[in-house]
Amino acid sequence: MAVTRRKALSQGFSGVFLVCSFAADKRSRPVTGTATSAWARASAAGPFEPFQRDVPLLPVARPVEQTKSLQKYISEMKPGTASILPGLTTPILGYYGMYPGPTFRATRGRAVEVRQINRSGRDLNVHLHGGVTQPQFDGHPHDAVPDGTERLYHYSNVQHSATLWYHDHAHGETAKTLFAGLAAFYIVEDPEEDDALELPRGDYDVPLMIQDRAFNADGTFRYRVDIDRGFRGDTLLVNGAIAPRMKVERRLYRLRLLNSSNARPYEFVLGNGREVIQISSDGGLLPKPVRRTSISLQPAERVDVVVDFRQFGVGSEVILHNTVGEATTSAVMRFDVVKGGAEEARVPKVLRELEPLPPVNAQRSFPLTFNGLGRAQWQIAGAGFDDERIDCRPRLGSSELWTFTNNSERTHPMHTHGHFFRVVSIEGKPPQPGDAAWKDTIPVLPHQTVVIRPNFDYYTGRYVFHCHAAEHGDMSMMGQMEVVA
Ligand code: C2O
Ligand code: CU
Ligand code: CU
Repeated sequence: MAVTRRKALSQGFSGVFLVCSFAADKRSRPVTGTATSAWARASAAGPFEPFQRDVPLLPVARPVEQTKSLQKYISEMKPGTASILPGLTTPILGYYGMYPGPTFRATRGRAVEVRQINRSGRDLNVHLHGGVTQPQFDGHPHDAVPDGTERLYHYSNVQHSATLWYHDHAHGETAKTLFAGLAAFYIVEDPEEDDALELPRGDYDVPLMIQDRAFNADGTFRYRVDIDRGFRGDTLLVNGAIAPRMKVERRLYRLRLLNSSNARPYEFVLGNGREVIQISSDGGLLPKPVRRTSISLQPAERVDVVVDFRQFGVGSEVILHNTVGEATTSAVMRFDVVKGGAEEARVPKVLRELEPLPPVNAQRSFPLTFNGLGRAQWQIAGAGFDDERIDCRPRLGSSELWTFTNNSERTHPMHTHGHFFRVVSIEGKPPQPGDAAWKDTIPVLPHQTVVIRPNFDYYTGRYVFHCHAAEHGDMSMMGQMEVVA
Protein backbone atom coordinates (compact mmCIF):
# COMPACT_ATOMS: atom_id res chain seq x y z
CA MET A 1 0.00 0.00 0.00
CA ALA A 2 1.73 3.14 -1.20
CA VAL A 3 0.28 6.43 -0.19
CA THR A 4 1.63 9.88 -0.75
CA ARG A 5 3.25 11.78 2.00
CA ARG A 6 0.56 14.39 2.08
CA LYS A 7 -2.06 11.68 2.42
CA ALA A 8 -0.05 9.91 5.10
CA LEU A 9 0.08 13.05 7.12
CA SER A 10 -3.60 13.77 6.85
CA GLN A 11 -4.56 10.16 7.59
CA GLY A 12 -1.99 9.68 10.27
CA PHE A 13 -2.83 12.80 12.10
CA SER A 14 -6.54 13.19 11.62
CA GLY A 15 -8.08 13.67 15.01
CA VAL A 16 -5.01 15.24 16.47
CA PHE A 17 -6.18 18.73 15.92
CA LEU A 18 -9.51 17.88 17.46
CA VAL A 19 -8.07 16.55 20.67
CA CYS A 20 -5.66 19.45 20.89
CA SER A 21 -8.43 22.02 20.63
CA PHE A 22 -9.26 24.32 23.47
CA ALA A 23 -12.86 24.75 22.44
CA ALA A 24 -14.18 22.93 25.49
CA ASP A 25 -11.93 24.80 27.82
CA LYS A 26 -14.28 27.60 28.85
CA ARG A 27 -13.13 28.11 32.39
CA SER A 28 -9.56 28.99 31.60
CA ARG A 29 -8.31 32.51 31.32
CA PRO A 30 -5.40 33.76 29.27
CA VAL A 31 -2.14 34.40 31.05
CA THR A 32 -1.63 38.05 31.84
CA GLY A 33 1.24 39.96 33.32
CA THR A 34 4.87 39.76 32.49
CA ALA A 35 6.34 37.14 34.75
CA THR A 36 6.81 33.43 34.77
CA SER A 37 4.56 30.43 35.01
CA ALA A 38 5.16 30.27 38.75
CA TRP A 39 3.90 33.82 39.07
CA ALA A 40 0.90 33.19 36.84
CA ARG A 41 0.06 30.12 38.84
CA ALA A 42 0.13 32.00 42.11
CA SER A 43 -1.84 35.02 40.93
CA ALA A 44 -4.36 33.42 38.59
CA ALA A 45 -4.65 29.69 38.94
CA GLY A 46 -6.73 29.48 35.74
CA PRO A 47 -4.36 28.39 33.01
CA PHE A 48 -2.48 25.99 35.24
CA GLU A 49 -5.45 24.47 37.02
CA PRO A 50 -5.25 20.70 36.60
CA PHE A 51 -7.84 18.44 34.95
CA GLN A 52 -9.22 21.10 32.58
CA ARG A 53 -8.35 19.36 29.34
CA ASP A 54 -8.77 15.87 27.97
CA VAL A 55 -5.50 14.06 27.57
CA PRO A 56 -4.31 14.37 23.98
CA LEU A 57 -4.12 10.98 22.32
CA LEU A 58 -0.83 10.91 20.47
CA PRO A 59 -1.00 10.65 16.69
CA VAL A 60 0.37 7.51 15.09
CA ALA A 61 2.82 7.89 12.22
CA ARG A 62 1.71 6.15 9.04
CA PRO A 63 4.10 4.49 6.61
CA VAL A 64 4.35 5.99 3.15
CA GLU A 65 5.08 2.55 1.79
CA GLN A 66 5.23 -0.95 3.19
CA THR A 67 5.92 -4.59 2.45
CA LYS A 68 5.82 -7.64 4.69
CA SER A 69 9.39 -7.04 5.80
CA LEU A 70 9.74 -3.24 5.73
CA GLN A 71 7.81 -0.10 6.57
CA LYS A 72 9.00 3.25 5.25
CA TYR A 73 8.29 6.60 6.81
CA ILE A 74 9.20 10.18 6.11
CA SER A 75 9.54 12.57 9.02
CA GLU A 76 10.58 16.16 9.16
CA MET A 77 12.18 17.79 12.16
CA LYS A 78 11.01 21.36 12.09
CA PRO A 79 9.58 24.23 14.08
CA GLY A 80 5.88 24.18 14.84
CA THR A 81 3.46 25.39 17.47
CA ALA A 82 1.57 23.73 20.27
CA SER A 83 -1.56 24.82 22.13
CA ILE A 84 -0.73 24.29 25.76
CA LEU A 85 -1.86 27.43 27.54
CA PRO A 86 -5.32 28.72 26.71
CA GLY A 87 -5.27 31.60 24.25
CA LEU A 88 -1.55 31.29 23.59
CA THR A 89 0.59 29.30 21.23
CA THR A 90 3.91 27.79 22.19
CA PRO A 91 6.63 27.54 19.57
CA ILE A 92 8.17 24.08 19.56
CA LEU A 93 10.64 22.01 17.62
CA GLY A 94 9.10 18.69 16.72
CA TYR A 95 9.02 15.59 14.58
CA TYR A 96 6.60 16.43 11.77
CA GLY A 97 6.58 19.84 13.47
CA MET A 98 4.43 18.42 16.29
CA TYR A 99 4.78 18.30 20.04
CA PRO A 100 4.77 15.59 21.22
CA GLY A 101 5.83 13.84 18.04
CA PRO A 102 3.89 10.97 16.46
CA THR A 103 4.14 7.44 17.81
CA PHE A 104 5.68 4.76 15.65
CA ARG A 105 4.00 1.40 16.03
CA ALA A 106 6.55 -1.06 14.69
CA THR A 107 6.24 -4.82 14.48
CA ARG A 108 8.83 -7.21 15.78
CA GLY A 109 10.73 -8.76 12.85
CA ARG A 110 9.55 -6.12 10.38
CA ALA A 111 12.12 -3.41 9.72
CA VAL A 112 11.36 0.30 9.77
CA GLU A 113 13.12 2.91 7.71
CA VAL A 114 12.63 6.56 8.58
CA ARG A 115 13.80 9.30 6.27
CA GLN A 116 14.46 12.13 8.71
CA ILE A 117 14.59 15.50 7.04
CA ASN A 118 16.21 18.17 9.16
CA ARG A 119 14.52 21.54 8.69
CA SER A 120 15.00 22.58 12.29
CA GLY A 121 17.57 25.30 11.74
CA ARG A 122 20.20 23.39 13.69
CA ASP A 123 22.28 20.25 13.37
CA LEU A 124 20.48 17.27 14.90
CA ASN A 125 20.32 13.53 14.74
CA VAL A 126 17.86 10.90 15.86
CA HIS A 127 18.40 8.32 18.56
CA LEU A 128 15.97 5.45 19.09
CA HIS A 129 16.21 5.01 22.85
CA GLY A 130 16.04 1.33 23.76
CA GLY A 131 16.46 0.31 20.14
CA VAL A 132 18.71 -2.60 19.25
CA THR A 133 20.14 -0.62 16.39
CA GLN A 134 23.28 -0.80 14.24
CA PRO A 135 25.72 1.93 15.29
CA GLN A 136 25.39 3.95 12.08
CA PHE A 137 21.67 4.40 12.79
CA ASP A 138 21.99 4.98 16.52
CA GLY A 139 22.39 8.74 16.54
CA HIS A 140 25.89 8.96 17.93
CA PRO A 141 26.41 12.42 19.48
CA HIS A 142 28.94 13.39 16.84
CA ASP A 143 27.05 11.91 13.92
CA ALA A 144 25.11 15.03 13.03
CA VAL A 145 22.50 15.43 10.34
CA PRO A 146 23.28 19.02 9.30
CA ASP A 147 20.40 21.44 8.99
CA GLY A 148 18.89 21.27 5.52
CA THR A 149 19.96 17.67 4.94
CA GLU A 150 18.39 14.30 5.61
CA ARG A 151 19.33 10.85 6.85
CA LEU A 152 17.83 7.42 6.44
CA TYR A 153 17.54 5.58 9.74
CA HIS A 154 17.08 1.83 9.57
CA TYR A 155 15.63 -0.04 12.55
CA SER A 156 15.65 -3.81 12.31
CA ASN A 157 13.16 -4.41 15.15
CA VAL A 158 14.84 -7.68 16.03
CA GLN A 159 14.12 -7.08 19.68
CA HIS A 160 11.18 -8.11 21.83
CA SER A 161 8.07 -5.99 22.06
CA ALA A 162 8.80 -2.92 24.17
CA THR A 163 7.98 0.72 24.75
CA LEU A 164 10.81 2.79 23.25
CA TRP A 165 11.12 6.44 22.40
CA TYR A 166 13.17 8.66 20.14
CA HIS A 167 14.86 11.99 20.61
CA ASP A 168 17.75 14.13 19.41
CA HIS A 169 21.29 13.28 20.48
CA ALA A 170 23.43 16.14 19.13
CA HIS A 171 26.31 16.48 21.53
CA GLY A 172 25.92 19.20 24.13
CA GLU A 173 22.50 20.13 22.71
CA THR A 174 20.17 17.37 23.84
CA ALA A 175 18.84 19.20 26.88
CA LYS A 176 17.68 22.07 24.69
CA THR A 177 16.26 20.03 21.83
CA LEU A 178 14.46 17.64 24.16
CA PHE A 179 13.02 20.61 25.99
CA ALA A 180 12.02 22.26 22.70
CA GLY A 181 9.81 19.26 21.91
CA LEU A 182 11.82 16.61 20.03
CA ALA A 183 10.52 13.50 21.78
CA ALA A 184 8.08 10.76 20.83
CA PHE A 185 7.19 7.11 21.36
CA TYR A 186 8.32 4.17 19.28
CA ILE A 187 6.52 1.00 20.26
CA VAL A 188 7.63 -2.44 19.13
CA GLU A 189 4.66 -4.79 18.98
CA ASP A 190 4.57 -8.54 18.67
CA PRO A 191 1.25 -9.76 17.25
CA GLU A 192 1.82 -13.39 18.23
CA GLU A 193 2.56 -12.39 21.78
CA ASP A 194 -0.45 -10.04 21.76
CA ASP A 195 -2.75 -12.88 20.71
CA ALA A 196 -1.31 -15.20 23.32
CA LEU A 197 -1.34 -12.78 26.24
CA GLU A 198 -4.56 -10.81 25.61
CA LEU A 199 -3.35 -7.70 27.40
CA PRO A 200 -5.43 -4.56 26.85
CA ARG A 201 -4.92 -3.18 23.34
CA GLY A 202 -6.31 -0.74 20.82
CA ASP A 203 -8.09 2.11 22.60
CA TYR A 204 -7.12 0.53 25.92
CA ASP A 205 -3.38 0.75 25.27
CA VAL A 206 -2.44 4.36 25.96
CA PRO A 207 1.07 5.85 25.74
CA LEU A 208 1.54 8.68 28.24
CA MET A 209 4.55 10.97 27.99
CA ILE A 210 5.29 12.90 31.16
CA GLN A 211 7.42 16.05 31.03
CA ASP A 212 7.93 19.15 33.12
CA ARG A 213 8.01 22.59 31.59
CA ALA A 214 8.05 26.25 32.59
CA PHE A 215 6.48 29.07 30.62
CA ASN A 216 7.02 32.72 29.93
CA ALA A 217 4.00 35.01 30.04
CA ASP A 218 3.75 34.97 26.24
CA GLY A 219 3.34 31.20 26.27
CA THR A 220 6.85 30.32 25.15
CA PHE A 221 8.71 27.54 26.92
CA ARG A 222 11.13 28.94 29.46
CA TYR A 223 14.42 27.11 29.82
CA ARG A 224 17.05 27.82 32.44
CA VAL A 225 20.42 26.11 32.31
CA ASP A 226 21.20 24.22 35.50
CA ILE A 227 24.16 21.90 35.04
CA ASP A 228 23.97 20.86 38.67
CA ARG A 229 20.38 19.62 39.08
CA GLY A 230 19.30 19.67 35.47
CA PHE A 231 16.23 21.58 34.35
CA ARG A 232 13.18 21.56 36.65
CA GLY A 233 9.91 23.02 35.41
CA ASP A 234 7.00 24.02 37.65
CA THR A 235 4.33 22.57 35.34
CA LEU A 236 3.64 18.92 34.46
CA LEU A 237 2.50 17.98 31.00
CA VAL A 238 1.08 14.64 29.94
CA ASN A 239 1.13 14.17 26.17
CA GLY A 240 1.64 17.90 25.90
CA ALA A 241 -1.32 18.98 28.07
CA ILE A 242 -1.17 20.41 31.59
CA ALA A 243 -2.24 17.73 34.11
CA PRO A 244 -5.09 16.51 31.88
CA ARG A 245 -8.07 14.28 32.59
CA MET A 246 -8.90 11.08 30.80
CA LYS A 247 -12.23 9.34 30.48
CA VAL A 248 -11.77 5.65 31.21
CA GLU A 249 -14.27 2.82 31.07
CA ARG A 250 -14.59 0.41 33.97
CA ARG A 251 -12.14 -2.09 32.51
CA LEU A 252 -8.44 -2.83 32.10
CA TYR A 253 -6.10 -0.26 30.58
CA ARG A 254 -2.47 -0.60 29.62
CA LEU A 255 -0.75 2.71 30.35
CA ARG A 256 2.72 3.12 28.89
CA LEU A 257 4.46 5.64 31.13
CA LEU A 258 7.50 7.46 29.76
CA ASN A 259 9.48 10.06 31.66
CA SER A 260 10.95 12.18 28.88
CA SER A 261 11.65 15.09 31.19
CA ASN A 262 15.12 16.57 31.07
CA ALA A 263 16.03 15.75 34.65
CA ARG A 264 12.95 15.47 36.89
CA PRO A 265 12.21 12.16 38.61
CA TYR A 266 8.68 11.07 39.50
CA GLU A 267 7.03 8.76 41.97
CA PHE A 268 3.52 7.99 40.80
CA VAL A 269 0.72 6.99 43.15
CA LEU A 270 -2.82 6.27 41.98
CA GLY A 271 -5.71 7.54 44.12
CA ASN A 272 -4.90 6.83 47.75
CA GLY A 273 -2.35 4.21 46.89
CA ARG A 274 -4.39 1.80 44.80
CA GLU A 275 -2.51 -1.04 43.20
CA VAL A 276 -1.38 -0.96 39.63
CA ILE A 277 0.07 -3.97 37.87
CA GLN A 278 3.45 -3.40 36.32
CA ILE A 279 3.88 -5.62 33.27
CA SER A 280 6.86 -4.13 31.55
CA SER A 281 10.01 -2.04 31.94
CA ASP A 282 12.50 -0.48 29.48
CA GLY A 283 13.33 -3.67 27.59
CA GLY A 284 9.80 -5.07 27.42
CA LEU A 285 7.63 -7.47 29.40
CA LEU A 286 8.59 -8.67 32.86
CA PRO A 287 8.56 -12.44 33.48
CA LYS A 288 5.53 -11.97 35.74
CA PRO A 289 3.25 -9.05 36.56
CA VAL A 290 4.26 -7.09 39.65
CA ARG A 291 1.68 -5.42 41.87
CA ARG A 292 2.82 -2.01 43.05
CA THR A 293 1.34 0.93 44.88
CA SER A 294 3.88 3.41 43.55
CA ILE A 295 5.96 3.62 40.40
CA SER A 296 9.18 5.57 40.33
CA LEU A 297 10.30 6.86 36.97
CA GLN A 298 13.60 8.59 36.36
CA PRO A 299 14.39 10.45 33.14
CA ALA A 300 14.20 8.11 30.10
CA GLU A 301 12.73 5.16 32.01
CA ARG A 302 9.56 3.43 30.86
CA VAL A 303 7.10 1.37 32.82
CA ASP A 304 3.94 -0.18 31.41
CA VAL A 305 1.20 -0.75 33.94
CA VAL A 306 -2.23 -2.29 33.70
CA VAL A 307 -4.81 -0.46 35.76
CA ASP A 308 -8.04 -2.24 36.58
CA PHE A 309 -10.60 0.53 36.63
CA ARG A 310 -13.30 -1.97 37.60
CA GLN A 311 -12.20 -1.38 41.18
CA PHE A 312 -13.75 2.11 40.94
CA GLY A 313 -17.40 3.04 40.67
CA VAL A 314 -18.86 4.91 37.72
CA GLY A 315 -18.34 8.62 38.35
CA SER A 316 -15.11 8.18 40.34
CA GLU A 317 -12.38 10.68 39.70
CA VAL A 318 -9.05 8.99 40.29
CA ILE A 319 -6.01 11.20 40.50
CA LEU A 320 -2.52 10.10 39.58
CA HIS A 321 -0.16 11.93 41.94
CA ASN A 322 3.56 12.53 41.85
CA THR A 323 4.79 12.31 45.43
CA VAL A 324 8.36 13.58 44.98
CA GLY A 325 7.82 17.00 43.43
CA GLU A 326 6.78 20.41 44.63
CA ALA A 327 3.14 21.37 45.19
CA THR A 328 2.71 22.41 41.55
CA THR A 329 4.07 19.12 40.21
CA SER A 330 1.91 16.91 42.38
CA ALA A 331 -1.13 16.45 40.14
CA VAL A 332 -0.17 14.39 37.08
CA MET A 333 -3.56 13.56 35.61
CA ARG A 334 -7.06 12.39 36.53
CA PHE A 335 -9.00 9.36 35.36
CA ASP A 336 -12.76 9.88 35.15
CA VAL A 337 -14.44 6.50 35.34
CA VAL A 338 -17.44 5.80 33.12
CA LYS A 339 -19.42 2.64 32.39
CA GLY A 340 -17.48 -0.09 30.59
CA GLY A 341 -18.45 -2.81 28.15
CA ALA A 342 -17.55 -6.48 28.36
CA GLU A 343 -13.92 -7.03 29.22
CA GLU A 344 -11.85 -9.00 26.72
CA ALA A 345 -8.41 -8.34 28.14
CA ARG A 346 -6.66 -9.98 31.07
CA VAL A 347 -3.31 -9.99 32.83
CA PRO A 348 -1.84 -13.47 32.57
CA LYS A 349 0.22 -14.87 35.45
CA VAL A 350 3.24 -15.43 33.25
CA LEU A 351 4.30 -12.86 30.64
CA ARG A 352 7.66 -13.73 29.14
CA GLU A 353 10.63 -15.88 29.86
CA LEU A 354 13.86 -13.96 30.38
CA GLU A 355 16.74 -15.10 28.18
CA PRO A 356 19.80 -16.26 30.08
CA LEU A 357 22.84 -13.98 30.03
CA PRO A 358 26.10 -15.03 28.38
CA PRO A 359 29.11 -15.46 30.70
CA VAL A 360 30.74 -12.44 32.32
CA ASN A 361 33.84 -11.50 30.38
CA ALA A 362 34.98 -8.35 32.21
CA GLN A 363 34.32 -6.25 35.29
CA ARG A 364 34.54 -2.49 35.11
CA SER A 365 34.00 0.27 37.56
CA PHE A 366 32.67 3.69 36.73
CA PRO A 367 32.78 6.24 39.56
CA LEU A 368 30.39 9.13 38.89
CA THR A 369 31.69 12.53 39.94
CA PHE A 370 31.34 16.25 39.55
CA ASN A 371 34.48 18.12 38.62
CA GLY A 372 34.24 21.81 39.47
CA LEU A 373 37.79 22.66 38.42
CA GLY A 374 38.01 24.83 35.33
CA ARG A 375 34.91 24.40 33.21
CA ALA A 376 32.60 22.49 35.55
CA GLN A 377 31.52 19.11 34.27
CA TRP A 378 30.09 15.76 35.26
CA GLN A 379 32.39 12.82 34.71
CA ILE A 380 32.39 9.06 34.38
CA ALA A 381 35.58 7.41 35.69
CA GLY A 382 37.29 10.76 35.95
CA ALA A 383 36.66 11.96 32.40
CA GLY A 384 34.09 13.86 30.40
CA PHE A 385 32.96 12.79 26.94
CA ASP A 386 35.61 12.59 24.26
CA ASP A 387 34.67 11.39 20.82
CA GLU A 388 38.29 10.30 20.27
CA ARG A 389 38.39 8.05 23.31
CA ILE A 390 36.93 4.56 23.61
CA ASP A 391 36.35 3.76 27.27
CA CYS A 392 35.81 0.03 26.92
CA ARG A 393 35.74 -2.72 24.33
CA PRO A 394 33.20 -5.38 25.32
CA ARG A 395 33.17 -8.61 23.34
CA LEU A 396 30.12 -9.52 21.28
CA GLY A 397 28.34 -12.50 22.81
CA SER A 398 29.50 -11.72 26.33
CA SER A 399 28.13 -9.93 29.34
CA GLU A 400 30.05 -7.74 31.77
CA LEU A 401 29.67 -6.44 35.30
CA TRP A 402 29.65 -2.67 35.50
CA THR A 403 29.76 -0.94 38.86
CA PHE A 404 28.52 2.63 39.02
CA THR A 405 29.52 4.39 42.23
CA ASN A 406 27.89 7.75 42.69
CA ASN A 407 30.27 10.09 44.51
CA SER A 408 27.99 13.08 44.13
CA GLU A 409 24.88 14.68 45.61
CA ARG A 410 22.76 14.18 42.46
CA THR A 411 20.98 11.20 40.98
CA HIS A 412 22.34 9.85 37.70
CA PRO A 413 19.99 7.76 35.57
CA MET A 414 22.64 5.76 33.70
CA HIS A 415 21.79 4.57 30.21
CA THR A 416 23.46 2.20 27.74
CA HIS A 417 22.88 2.44 23.99
CA GLY A 418 22.17 -0.52 21.76
CA HIS A 419 22.26 -3.10 24.54
CA PHE A 420 20.05 -3.93 27.46
CA PHE A 421 21.28 -4.88 30.89
CA ARG A 422 20.04 -6.57 34.01
CA VAL A 423 20.40 -4.90 37.37
CA VAL A 424 22.54 -7.12 39.57
CA SER A 425 22.43 -5.11 42.78
CA ILE A 426 21.64 -1.75 44.31
CA GLU A 427 23.69 -1.15 47.44
CA GLY A 428 24.44 -4.87 47.51
CA LYS A 429 20.77 -5.88 47.42
CA PRO A 430 18.86 -7.29 44.47
CA PRO A 431 16.57 -4.79 42.68
CA GLN A 432 12.83 -4.84 43.27
CA PRO A 433 11.12 -7.20 40.77
CA GLY A 434 9.92 -4.34 38.52
CA ASP A 435 13.56 -3.49 37.79
CA ALA A 436 14.82 -7.06 37.54
CA ALA A 437 14.13 -7.66 33.84
CA TRP A 438 15.81 -6.00 30.83
CA LYS A 439 16.59 -2.34 31.42
CA ASP A 440 18.44 0.36 29.51
CA THR A 441 18.34 3.10 32.15
CA ILE A 442 18.82 2.77 35.91
CA PRO A 443 19.05 5.53 38.49
CA VAL A 444 22.13 5.66 40.68
CA LEU A 445 21.08 7.73 43.69
CA PRO A 446 23.52 9.98 45.56
CA HIS A 447 26.32 7.90 47.12
CA GLN A 448 24.80 4.66 45.90
CA THR A 449 26.57 1.78 44.23
CA VAL A 450 24.67 0.00 41.46
CA VAL A 451 25.95 -3.04 39.59
CA ILE A 452 24.54 -3.83 36.15
CA ARG A 453 25.21 -6.64 33.72
CA PRO A 454 24.98 -5.48 30.11
CA ASN A 455 24.38 -8.09 27.44
CA PHE A 456 26.41 -7.45 24.29
CA ASP A 457 24.27 -9.66 22.21
CA TYR A 458 23.55 -8.12 18.88
CA TYR A 459 25.61 -5.60 16.95
CA THR A 460 29.26 -4.66 17.03
CA GLY A 461 30.51 -1.08 16.80
CA ARG A 462 30.68 2.13 18.73
CA TYR A 463 27.92 3.19 21.11
CA VAL A 464 27.71 5.67 23.95
CA PHE A 465 26.58 5.21 27.53
CA HIS A 466 25.70 8.21 29.63
CA CYS A 467 23.69 9.88 32.32
CA HIS A 468 20.18 10.67 31.07
CA ALA A 469 19.73 13.78 33.14
CA ALA A 470 19.98 15.67 29.86
CA GLU A 471 22.10 18.48 31.27
CA HIS A 472 24.53 15.99 32.78
CA GLY A 473 24.89 14.05 29.54
CA ASP A 474 25.49 17.25 27.62
CA MET A 475 28.04 18.43 30.14
CA SER A 476 29.69 15.86 29.66
CA MET A 477 28.71 12.69 31.47
CA MET A 478 29.10 10.24 28.64
CA GLY A 479 31.46 7.46 27.67
CA GLN A 480 31.96 5.29 24.60
CA MET A 481 32.14 1.56 24.20
CA GLU A 482 33.11 -0.34 21.14
CA VAL A 483 31.58 -3.77 20.94
CA VAL A 484 34.08 -6.00 19.16
CA ALA A 485 33.67 -9.40 17.51
CU1 C2O B 1 17.69 8.48 25.41
CU2 C2O B 1 21.56 8.36 24.70
O1 C2O B 1 19.59 8.36 25.04
CU1 CU C 1 19.41 5.74 24.30
CU1 CU D 1 23.70 12.65 36.00
